[in-house]
Amino acid sequence: MYRTHTCGELRISDKDKNVTLAGWVQRIRKMGGMTFIDIRDRYGITQLVFNHENDPELCDLANKLGREFVIQVSGIVKERSNKNKNIPTGDIELIVNNLVILHSSEIPPFTIEDESDGGDDLRMQYRYLDLRRNCVRKNLELRHKIAFEVRKYLDQQNFLEIETPMLIKSTPEGARDFVVPSRMNPGEFYALPQSPQTFKQLLMVSVFDRYFQIVKCFRDEDLRADRQPEFTQIDCEMSFVEQEDVLNIFEGMIKHLFKEIKQIDFKDPFPRMTWADAMKYYGSDKPDLRFGMQFVELKDLTEGKNFGVFDNAEYVAGICAKGCASYTRKQLDELTEFVKRPQVGAKGLVYVRYDENGSFKSSVDKFYTAEDLKKWAERFNANPGDLILILAGEKTKTQKALCELRLEMGTRLGLRDKNKFAPLWVIDFPLLEWDEETQRYYAMHHPFTSPNLNDIDLLDSDPGKVRANAYDMVFNGVELGGGSIRIHDSELQDKMFRILGFTEEKAQYQFGFLINAFKYGAPPHGGLAFGLDRLVSLFAGLDSIRDCIAFPKNNSGRDTMSGAPSVLDESQLEELQLKLDIHDK
Ligand code: AMO
Repeated sequence: MYRTHTCGELRISDKDKNVTLAGWVQRIRKMGGMTFIDIRDRYGITQLVFNHENDPELCDLANKLGREFVIQVSGIVKERSNKNKNIPTGDIELIVNNLVILHSSEIPPFTIEDESDGGDDLRMQYRYLDLRRNCVRKNLELRHKIAFEVRKYLDQQNFLEIETPMLIKSTPEGARDFVVPSRMNPGEFYALPQSPQTFKQLLMVSVFDRYFQIVKCFRDEDLRADRQPEFTQIDCEMSFVEQEDVLNIFEGMIKHLFKEIKQIDFKDPFPRMTWADAMKYYGSDKPDLRFGMQFVELKDLTEGKNFGVFDNAEYVAGICAKGCASYTRKQLDELTEFVKRPQVGAKGLVYVRYDENGSFKSSVDKFYTAEDLKKWAERFNANPGDLILILAGEKTKTQKALCELRLEMGTRLGLRDKNKFAPLWVIDFPLLEWDEETQRYYAMHHPFTSPNLNDIDLLDSDPGKVRANAYDMVFNGVELGGGSIRIHDSELQDKMFRILGFTEEKAQYQFGFLINAFKYGAPPHGGLAFGLDRLVSLFAGLDSIRDCIAFPKNNSGRDTMSGAPSVLDESQLEELQLKLDIHDK
């Protein structure tokens, strides 16, 4: 037997027991004739003691160990005189009487402790060592627990987990596909699924009225902290349901997870907000509701005072930062620089300080009287001591910039507490998005999303105004999941394809299998998918979803550990009958 206990298991109640542990050497300290070694495994750390006086040979062997050697030790558990309150095994230590080196180790490229000296790139290159660190390992444990509880909940609700294919037909709507050449069918390609969307709908047409799958999805898109080229969805679909049924089941699932894993009981229903309100008050379809600071529109109050920036702007709006009137010139300059960054995109920032003594000081004092500013302050419900920050310009762009400024102020004021959880359903998304470049509508969600039946008449007259029967679940400003009620009526689906600029042939070529399936009795259905990586990150309070993925890709989509992507052998290309024509290599 390699071990009787794990390295995180022994307590004072195990005193005087003979035990055997196995694990990695984390740290070695020599003090006089004593050698102390921390031994680590998945479960924790235990202190080992070697006493030169009692057993010089054993102690000499211990002194030869290096960091990350794999060892097996036996000995007697004793109470520590110098207790370590920071670890669960801190009351005891093991007086070792036998040591076996199971495997030696080269000196690791970084220290394998919570506070590591390894930079991001180095840790990714040696990810298997990084995963030994407590702070990374525990994210994977949490991920397992969440996936397990999801399965438990959905099983109780009668959902079946059904696998769908990974090599599928390319349907380049939405993000770019990753494609895989077919050797047996030269010149033809599979795509890796961006999601199992069409397959889960086919399962509904089949008979499986409650489907789910914890499934890998692949999207070739630009990466960010909350995006990976391969990520995992909790993908779900239900038949004979309306929006309300779907929201209830999955609000229940998220509440179940919070209760089981975080011991947080959300008693109230999650708030709901229309997409239009989310944009109006937060400039985002995923507002962070951990704090207020809603947008206040000001255009009407600013007009006609010869301030060209406001007069010529389509949209003037701002936010009120409570208690920030004391912001210094330097702080205000920093905020101005912040909004001018290309990613934020504003041209400038107007501020109004509502000083504690009730007077106003603004960057537009030349154009507006104290009386004017007072009216603005009233609209913001501002109090003495508050700071008003205003942006102006083209509406959508300015809302986006003001959204960034609001989040920045939330961060600066410590209002985005990772231990606070603010859920929200965003509903009534627009069905379609107009694209100036290609001069056509795109489905905001996907082409199978049902319009809100109250807006059907607008489909011909004003398609841009049609609301979708679609919904997103948002937590703390992150889109955790989204879905919709689907079109199950062939005529309506044909119409949608027409509006999206598909010819009948193109629709048949891309989605013929689904269109045909719908001829054989499609039940009303709808569903949604959650991003598992984002869910785990939310629970763990992570800044990047990479930290809860065992082997993630970097921002250029590379796995620096294995070296993927890599070039193919000439023989592999020949087999696939592919010739490369790459110019910039
Ligand atoms: P959607 O495209 O909104 O919907 O994706 C669902 C959820 O998946 C997560 N997600 C991602 N996570 C990490 N990296 C990515 N690149 C990434 N892209 C998406 C998000 C998102 O909310 N088939 C539909 C669902 C449906 O209609 O049922 C779909 O895929 O958390």
